[in-house]
Amino acid sequence: MDKEAAARRPLFRMFNEVPERYDIMNRILTLKQDERWRKKAAKLCLEEDPQSVLDICTGTADLALRIAKMTKSKIRIIASDFSQPMLDVAAQKAQKLDGQQVEFVLADTADLPFGENTLDVITIGFAFRNLTYKNKFASQYLSEIHRTLKPGGIFIIAESSQPKNPVLRFGFRLYLKIWVQWLGGLLSGHSKAYRYLAVSARNYYSPGEVRKLLEEHAYVDFRHNSLLGGSAAIYTVRKPESRSSECRVLSAEC
Ligand SMILES: C[S@@+](CC[C@H](N)C(=O)[O-])C[C@H]1O[C@@H](n2cnc3c(N)ncnc32)[C@H](O)[C@@H]1O
Repeated sequence: MDKEAAARRPLFRMFNEVPERYDIMNRILTLKQDERWRKKAAKLCLEEDPQSVLDICTGTADLALRIAKMTKSKIRIIASDFSQPMLDVAAQKAQKLDGQQVEFVLADTADLPFGENTLDVITIGFAFRNLTYKNKFASQYLSEIHRTLKPGGIFIIAESSQPKNPVLRFGFRLYLKIWVQWLGGLLSGHSKAYRYLAVSARNYYSPGEVRKLLEEHAYVDFRHNSLLGGSAAIYTVRKPESRSSECRVLSAEC
């Protein structure tokens, strides 16, 4: 990984500071719902019967480890992140795995160390917002994910979302302000990080906006599973099977 380039990416410093209490904070702030959501994403991943899976922005690897625990097949599971402290916690957790192993790779999502068309599935748990919300590198990340996926390969995104119902949306915003920003900051000792989480989740894209963003980057077959009244979602999209369908998607002359 080009360490200087990675250090210039938004949020690099912030994520290097939070790994110690990252898991416990997730459990407290979502009342353990995050585990259910990752399980759902892992199930979607395994339904593809993949030979290779990459979990990008893996953090402490909860999603990659969940996939590893849920499969009996021999799959290549790789987990990447640009934060070494996060990967250190992840590797420690992975020691408890029995059988299926996970490979950890220090990598910036803008520059993944994998060839073109090599991965069956790419997953991301609660970090798509980090890559795309007010992030000037968003297009670079989306193109790099697209490049490394096999034609027909699937990209699975678990992320916070926006409830459609105004009452639920009001409740969700209150939860973000009080529970996530205030309590999260207090318990973790990292008020800036939990303020960022609350503010970015509050202002993050609706499912329609996520769809538009992905389709603009040549992904197709958008699907959306709404979770907990729309406060979170699992999105799936695919890389087109052939170059000609990709050209049609982008209306480009290829
Ligand atoms: C909110 S955490 C999500 C962690 C994990 N996926 C989960 O389900 O809890 C975001 C993670 O994305 C990583 N990250 C953010 N931007 C990145 C980038 N450009 N390249 C690689 N990792 C990145 C951070 O280091 C952090 O570990």
